[in-house]
Amino acid sequence: MHTQIFDHYPPKDKSNLIGLLQEVQNIYGYLPESALQDVSEFLGISVSRIYGVATFYNQFRLKPLGKHIIRVCRGTACHVKNSANILFGLETALGVKAGQTTRDKNFTLETVACIGACSIAPVINVDNDYYGRVELKDIAKIIKKYAATNQQEKKEEKIAGEQ
Ligand code: FES
Repeated sequence: MHTQIFDHYPPKDKSNLIGLLQEVQNIYGYLPESALQDVSEFLGISVSRIYGVATFYNQFRLKPLGKHIIRVCRGTACHVKNSANILFGLETALGVKAGQTTRDKNFTLETVACIGACSIAPVINVDNDYYGRVELKDIAKIIKKYAATNQQEKKEEKIAGEQ
């Protein structure tokens, strides 16, 4: 099923596990179970061992990301400016903890180390947009902006489906 990914790897060479997992994740955005089973057969490594490796390295995801990724900076400058409170506000508003994706798959909430905008701490970014000097009162507005995008797309998809 995922043989196109394996084409340039020699079979049964266990040293290629990380590289293969990275390729799978580049394609799907996470590591689907079916792909891990194919990797297991291709390399001759048990699925449970592959899960062990995938969960050890935090670069790998076992679940798909949401449509929008919200990253809360937890670097020192942002920490001093109370980024923990911003994170808590986002967790409360979205109903998920850091590292999780909302049920509607619209948002994934993550924390990151310094994202290089310390002068405007506390900072969050959503996809490619950066928000500085964020306050709790800004959170609902920021979320709404991306939720609205999603609703507009749903409307467009519905209209396209009716045509
Ligand atoms: S510590 Fe948050 S941007 Fe640098």
